[in-house]
Amino acid sequence: MTDLNLKDKIAFVTGARRGMGRSHSLLLAKAGAKVIVTDISQEDCQRVVQEIQNQGGEAMALKLDVTDSVEIDEVVKKIIETYGKIDILVNNAGVCPFKPFLELTEEDWDFVLNINLKGYFLTAQRVAKEMIKQKSGAIINIASVAMGQQGVGMLDLVHYCASKGGVVGMTEAMALELAPYNIRVNAIAPGVIETPMISPIKQNEDQLNAMLKRIPMGRVGSAEEISNAVLFLASDLSSYMTGSTVVVDGGWLAC
Ligand SMILES: NC(=O)c1ccc[n+]([C@@H]2O[C@H](COP(=O)([O-])OP(=O)(O)OC[C@H]3O[C@@H](n4cnc5c(N)ncnc54)[C@H](O)[C@@H]3O)[C@@H](O)[C@H]2O)c1
Repeated sequence: MTDLNLKDKIAFVTGARRGMGRSHSLLLAKAGAKVIVTDISQEDCQRVVQEIQNQGGEAMALKLDVTDSVEIDEVVKKIIETYGKIDILVNNAGVCPFKPFLELTEEDWDFVLNINLKGYFLTAQRVAKEMIKQKSGAIINIASVAMGQQGVGMLDLVHYCASKGGVVGMTEAMALELAPYNIRVNAIAPGVIETPMISPIKQNEDQLNAMLKRIPMGRVGSAEEISNAVLFLASDLSSYMTGSTVVVDGGWLAC
């Protein structure tokens, strides 16, 4: 039987200093992968590396701003120099600043789209060039239930919703082009997950309660509940899946 063992796999996670990226890194390492923990603060990444080492795993911290293609290239070169390959990429870095549509500036739009969409493209393309040489790989793009066509319009998040819809379209199109190289590309659409990103929602009790009412399971999800889906898509358990978006939302889209 195929299992979840990721021993000897090299996993590269973006936006991993906290929240879900931290959780994905910890779980990937628990499953046996060597994890490259990247984010805008090397110091914060090093703390996650320490946690992984404390649990007996292997990891490396690298500073990476996903909007900077030169930095992406340097990080990929460093991973190849150290480990010789990249098996798993988790495109997870993201921002979610709330602002009404009519007040959004071009700078606001570019800030969100550059990180949440262009950053995923730049990182995935650079990593795919290495995976093609290996003729194997798994790319996991973190989208959101706010990806469009699902009845989940998010107030004050036009730019964010546009970016997450883009992630799903990009995932499907990338999957087509990379399938001949045995590289699988899938997305995960989380519902509301307990991380620093949702603190503005938690500060507004009415907004939080309105959101909880739409979730059949009646609670927000934990970061680890999304990391479990990451593990599945990173492992051979999902060997016949590519171009899919896995929804993990406590039933929100079912209502
Ligand atoms: N929390 C939720 O409810 C929720 C729901 C659906 C999707 N998501 C998505 O999950 C992903 C993780 O978010 P989270 O909830 O853990 O939030 P978070 O704010 O805790 O984590 C996001 C991480 O991205 C990093 N980041 C921001 N800009 C970056 C850049 N330019 N380069 C590299 N890293 C950068 C941040 O430093 C941070 O560590 C995001 O893509 C987010 O959109 C979150």
